Amino acid sequence: MIDHTIKEYIEKIDLTQPIPTEEPMRQYYFLKKAKEIVKKESERLGRPLFSHTNTFGCQMNARDSEKLSGILREVGYMETDSEEADFVIYNTCTVRENANLRVYGRLGVLHGYKKKNPHMKIALCGCMMQEPTVVEKLQKSYRFVDLIFGTHNIFKFAELLVTTLESNRMVIDIWKDTNQIVEDLPIERKYPFKSGVNIMFGCNNFCSYCIVPYVRGRERSREPRDIIREIEGLVADGVVEIMLLGQNVNSYGKNLDNPMTFAELLEEIEKIEGLERIRFMTSHPKDLSDELIQVMAKSTKICRHLHLPLQSGSTSLLKVMNRKYTKEQYLALADKIRTAIPDIALTTDIIVGFPGETEEDFLETLDVVRKVRYDSAFTFIYSKRTGTPAAAMENQIPEEIVKNRFDRLLKEVQDISKEMAERFTGTTQTVLVEELNGQMKDYVTGRLSNNHVVHFPGDASLLGKLVTVHLDECRGFYYIGSKIGE
Ligand code: 5AD
Ligand code: SF4
Repeated sequence: MIDHTIKEYIEKIDLTQPIPTEEPMRQYYFLKKAKEIVKKESERLGRPLFSHTNTFGCQMNARDSEKLSGILREVGYMETDSEEADFVIYNTCTVRENANLRVYGRLGVLHGYKKKNPHMKIALCGCMMQEPTVVEKLQKSYRFVDLIFGTHNIFKFAELLVTTLESNRMVIDIWKDTNQIVEDLPIERKYPFKSGVNIMFGCNNFCSYCIVPYVRGRERSREPRDIIREIEGLVADGVVEIMLLGQNVNSYGKNLDNPMTFAELLEEIEKIEGLERIRFMTSHPKDLSDELIQVMAKSTKICRHLHLPLQSGSTSLLKVMNRKYTKEQYLALADKIRTAIPDIALTTDIIVGFPGETEEDFLETLDVVRKVRYDSAFTFIYSKRTGTPAAAMENQIPEEIVKNRFDRLLKEVQDISKEMAERFTGTTQTVLVEELNGQMKDYVTGRLSNNHVVHFPGDASLLGKLVTVHLDECRGFYYIGSKIGE
């Protein structure tokens, strides 16, 4: 169902009728109910009610936040950049300890706002809430939080919103897992011209350092027809670029009633008229098929970018990480991809300081970095996540050693990124214009197919357009260019 049809449907709901048990009808009922509560409160105060959504973490969370914002807007809140709002929701991440610490820090600030505005409601959801120790801590020391829910029941937000608005106690609803996928809820897109699209939820890989499988549950793929229908709707609404989202998109479709591979899904999506660019994230090297490489190579819409997390270059460490590939297999895969698609940009994630990492292991990682020559790499210091196998491993690495390795790795990846970016200087590329440049007046900023960023003279009329740009100069991580056509 597209957005305006949802609106019409909600208009017609009679709140005196029994609450529907089927989804998404049940949530439509609560949307309508929340709408009435918000309207009354707004009339009482003589001003609109404001909401603020703050997202931590990955693209998946960013997309989930668009669903939260969509509901808040539908029930009558006005979105504001300020956290001094009537309803504030944090969509949290827990992949590394730092993400959690930031949330606790911000909560102190929110508490201050709530003292000034006692009617303020504070909600927390997302990955961090799936950890029982977090919820215990919130219950004990953060009593001013009004609503806590997790990743599996985000579709119930409208219903939980009503419960919270109608009560003064802390509402907590966390599910351990689910195999439910609820379609057709309202979504408020951040960009009119590009959008994330979930193709699967959860993860079955259990890399030994990673908390995601515990907080996002088991792998579930969306039905291809639902995905295609959503993309067609987005394209009709002005979207030209989509990012297919999943923790491990390469294993898409395995658990469908009629199994389908990710490459087959891509071929179907490619056929959608009016769609110009297709991106996806994240690929696991162990599942990246030759079929996918072939589909990418011949595609005119799939972007020339592949994010291929390495994590470590040491075969023995990869084994303890439960990554299911060796250094040699990874290098061969990178080679195969570069041979089939020479202008592709390869990016990666690397962890340093995993338990037991020796200097030799680390040198293997540096060796892969030098051989693959990534266009960019996200480097992370290993963070111990309670409940994961790695957290229980002895031989955790002392901080000074990790810091030293991290700095050496960062320097290496940055030097290589700069050299790699140079290879496109002087070429002409298609660019999707994404925003007005914040620093340079009368400049806009856009992305090439390979995800590199370019700034060039232009104005707001170019936003959301695909234009042809000459890359005049490379300044490390971005280009300065000039537009030569539309
Ligand atoms: N510590 C540090 N980095 C981690 N990642 C996942 N779990 C951890 C952890 N415990 C990194 C991985 C992953 C990225 C999203 O976050 O590199 O690819
Ligand atoms: Fe963070 Fe992982 Fe959750 Fe994304 S899926 S928000 S990275 S914990």
